[in-house]
Amino acid sequence: MTLISLLKRPYIYILSLVSSFAIAQSATIPITTNDHALVLKTDQQGRLRTVYFGEPLHSSSEYEAISSLYHFDDANDGIYNAAYTPSGTWSLTEPAIEVKHADGNSALELKYLSHSQKPQSDASIETRILLKDPLYDFNVTLVYKAWEAENVIEQWTEIQHKENGAVMLEKYASADLYFTGDNFYLTSYHGRWAKEMQCKEEKLENGRKIIDSKLGTRAMLLQSPNFILSFDQPASENEGKVILGQLAWSGNFKLDFEVDTYDNLKFLAGINPYSSTYALPANQVFKTPSLIYAISNHGTGEASRGLHRWARNYRVLDGQGERLTLLNNWEATYFDFDEDKITGLFKDAKELGIDMFLLDDGWFANKYPRNSDRSGLGDWQENVKKLPSGIGHLVKEATKEGIKFGIWIEPEMVNPKSELYEQHLDWVIRQPDRPEVYYRNQLVLDLSNPEVQDFVFGVVDKLFTENPQLAFIKWDCNAVIYNAYSAYLAEQELPQSQLYVDYVKGLYAVLERVRAKYPKVPIMLCSGGGGRGDYEALRYFTEFWPSDDTDPLERIFMQWDYSYFFPSVVTCNHVTDWGKQPIKFRVDVASMGKLGFDIVFSHLSEDEKAFCKQAVKNYDRFKEIIWHGDQYRLVNPHENDFSAVMYVNESKEKAVFFGYFISQRQRLITDKEPIKFNGLDPEKQYTVKEINLFPGKRSPLDSEKVYSGDFLMKAGYNPMINAGRTSVVLEIEER
Ligand code: DGJ
Repeated sequence: MTLISLLKRPYIYILSLVSSFAIAQSATIPITTNDHALVLKTDQQGRLRTVYFGEPLHSSSEYEAISSLYHFDDANDGIYNAAYTPSGTWSLTEPAIEVKHADGNSALELKYLSHSQKPQSDASIETRILLKDPLYDFNVTLVYKAWEAENVIEQWTEIQHKENGAVMLEKYASADLYFTGDNFYLTSYHGRWAKEMQCKEEKLENGRKIIDSKLGTRAMLLQSPNFILSFDQPASENEGKVILGQLAWSGNFKLDFEVDTYDNLKFLAGINPYSSTYALPANQVFKTPSLIYAISNHGTGEASRGLHRWARNYRVLDGQGERLTLLNNWEATYFDFDEDKITGLFKDAKELGIDMFLLDDGWFANKYPRNSDRSGLGDWQENVKKLPSGIGHLVKEATKEGIKFGIWIEPEMVNPKSELYEQHLDWVIRQPDRPEVYYRNQLVLDLSNPEVQDFVFGVVDKLFTENPQLAFIKWDCNAVIYNAYSAYLAEQELPQSQLYVDYVKGLYAVLERVRAKYPKVPIMLCSGGGGRGDYEALRYFTEFWPSDDTDPLERIFMQWDYSYFFPSVVTCNHVTDWGKQPIKFRVDVASMGKLGFDIVFSHLSEDEKAFCKQAVKNYDRFKEIIWHGDQYRLVNPHENDFSAVMYVNESKEKAVFFGYFISQRQRLITDKEPIKFNGLDPEKQYTVKEINLFPGKRSPLDSEKVYSGDFLMKAGYNPMINAGRTSVVLEIEER
């Protein structure tokens, strides 16, 4: 029975007060940012409810009165707006938490006990709310961190008990949110290899919509933990209330959206309970992953910029730092290379003017050489045929050319055709009595096992110890977990259902060790493309690889869609031979992030080489704006024949614009209309200069003319993007 319904029936209200007043603690808890308030309030039973999700009130004392404004009918299945819905007692709605107590009983009640709100050193305000079962010594702490300026909230729960034996956690969501309103629109993302982050927006109707992953590793290959929720109207860039964010967890996740019988929306997010019952011993804390979201009352653009700033300032490793431009050999050579070929490529890297050479897959294993993806994974010794003088020699040669050297690893995985598999079968996730199932001919190592954690840490540690000048690592992860079974958990007499969770915890434990010893060295998070890329992993990684699909036309869409959630400083974009676009188009698209090349530079024509070299120089000049400036999505490729994005630095003195012609119906489309810029200072005067011109091409644009920011943002600018000028880069500078 809800507080609201009690208020409508005064006699029950009085009875309830008599029976529960003595024990019920009461509180109204606003969790606020500059533009937003999430308010939680206890009811007469001492249960915590979400009573407000909207613009902050001037006077916080008025939040108390909000719940009395809502008059829902009595519901048969419990309280919809519980701040963390337990199961087995008064609620028959979808629970946030399901447990089996040490005595085998499955009923849980959670009542408010106390809370605190404290400013933290990372500029957030942390709210901790303690809920407790009146019958069992079992409690849940709801934790919310709010960053006021960025309008970002991170929330998770901490579960603990003092029961007589382990409590089985059968479901343990990170967040249980409740939104009142009329219409809710969800943008979710699905995909597959080389087709990651395909977006779909839909109006949520009554019933449940679930986005989840059961893949174990490479978890976001098919569905993504990123989402946009728009209120009242479909998401739009510059208007409307939206929240956008993700569940920050590198394993199985579940997002659960339910429009209830009052047409309100309940949103549960957390680790996927699928096959993941966890045995929690007494006095230990089970911390769920974080749900992280940015909120805006003015559309997705503002929300993304808030999330980007938050990510750069408080989450991504070295988010405010520099990144290395690079030449990668993966698509240039695949597995077919030797020392001479690689050192030959160093010369290309130097001529191109980039910072680093990245040696990809294929450099290791001897008994079963890594000459294809069928063998060698797990045997991390240089292949003596390909690299007789070792990695150390390559690092030295690269240094001689004045470039840095980085290397690819995939330390969580093993090919059955490897010495590692032969020697440590018990380290491999596999059902002992069933046929093995492979993904890219490989299996996953059991990171729940501390010995395997040592091994994986050792792969990284050995590389850095033997090659102190090693400047970069690309950490790949190509397989999913089939046949989930851990010999280690069996030996420890722990439930097999902990494997999916303990795997990810094991991974984070390894990454903690790596970062304790090598705090800043850049490491790219790759997962056979974009199978990983979340804000928990990005505590340890400086950047991630969004997709193996580097066709620049596809990339315009994909980078656009990733940009809702990630700042450009973390997205690695490489120029490759994918697609039919000219080199200028490819380089321009890849410049909207962390620029890399994965081509045989020496195969380019002289003009193409000259273009690339100039484009790298230009990138070096404006990269600071791409990496650390604010991004404005101007023209949506999903809705137009063009696409345009711009980046503006903090002082609004400099900006870079990228515009593309993406129509298939080329002759019918012209550059008849201007594009409105955004993010400039209306009071400042700017020049607009076209850069990244192909040798021999002249720009039709007047680089001397001066415009006010006001003009460029209200009247706009026509960059003359058309079938003859399919990609245009503009440098905008205060005069
Ligand atoms: C998958 C990655 O996405 C590619 O970039 C490349 O590193 C290959 N793995 C190597 O096996």
